[in-house]
Amino acid sequence: MQYLKIEKEDGIVQITIDREDKLNAMSLDVMNEFISVLDELEKDSSKVIIITGAGQKAFSAGADIEYMSKIGPTEAEKYAIRGHEVLNKIEKLEKPVIAAINGYALGGGCELALSCDIRFASPNAQLGQPEVTLGICPGWGGTQRLLRIVGPARAKDLIFSGRRINAEEAMSMGLVNKVFSSENLLSETKSYAKNIAKNSNYAVGISKMLVNRGMDTNLDTGLKLEIYSWSL
Ligand code: HXC
Repeated sequence: MQYLKIEKEDGIVQITIDREDKLNAMSLDVMNEFISVLDELEKDSSKVIIITGAGQKAFSAGADIEYMSKIGPTEAEKYAIRGHEVLNKIEKLEKPVIAAINGYALGGGCELALSCDIRFASPNAQLGQPEVTLGICPGWGGTQRLLRIVGPARAKDLIFSGRRINAEEAMSMGLVNKVFSSENLLSETKSYAKNIAKNSNYAVGISKMLVNRGMDTNLDTGLKLEIYSWSL
């Protein structure tokens, strides 16, 4: 791995996007590395995954703007699809994934965090979907996942304006679960992850699946899925 740093301890896996000089912007190489790591995590005995960014400034400043400025529609579609593959894998992984947002989480960086189950942030976090300021729309699930997390009015506000919000505002709209000081963000995230890891992997995984499915189905179907899963 060149751009992702992987650390494993007691069933907790920390994935750090390690491209600090580019504010952890996610090039195609970064996304390809994510696919390899997630393929492994689907099968191994790890219990909780944490995603964060290298350095003090950024979780991730998004998709790689330099790369995007050079490509045509065919490569652009491939890049969009690759991003969706990564974020879908995170969402469908039968293990909790926590984003530790230690600075900018913009565009694709915010979308990466949206695909996680829990979002913790440091006070210097800045979240946003600035794509329209670049003449593009969100392309890694922002229009869909932001809508589901904060509702249509807030999602449209953030997407139409491209404005950045701080950790406090993000928490007020349910986009961030909790804010920890920059020094404590990772240690608090790890200790939260360790608490989850004490519980049954199976029960946590199936609960994740049920909540996720519940967002996209009617109540009756969601409840039937719960009965079926509970009695397995
Ligand atoms: C590539 C990036 C980058 C990005 C920052 N850098 N963001 N490179 N892609 N998304 C690089 C800069 O070019 C610079 O490299 C270095 O990181 C430091 O960035 P600065 O701009 O000098 O830092 P600062 O002045 O502190 O400003 C921080 C910032 C700004 C406000 C976060 O960098 C910024 O606005 N970045 C773009 C954020 C954004 O629009 N993201 C959405 C991208 S679109 P050098 O080599 O000059 O030092 C997207 C679409 C997703 O994500 C869907 C795709 C299909």
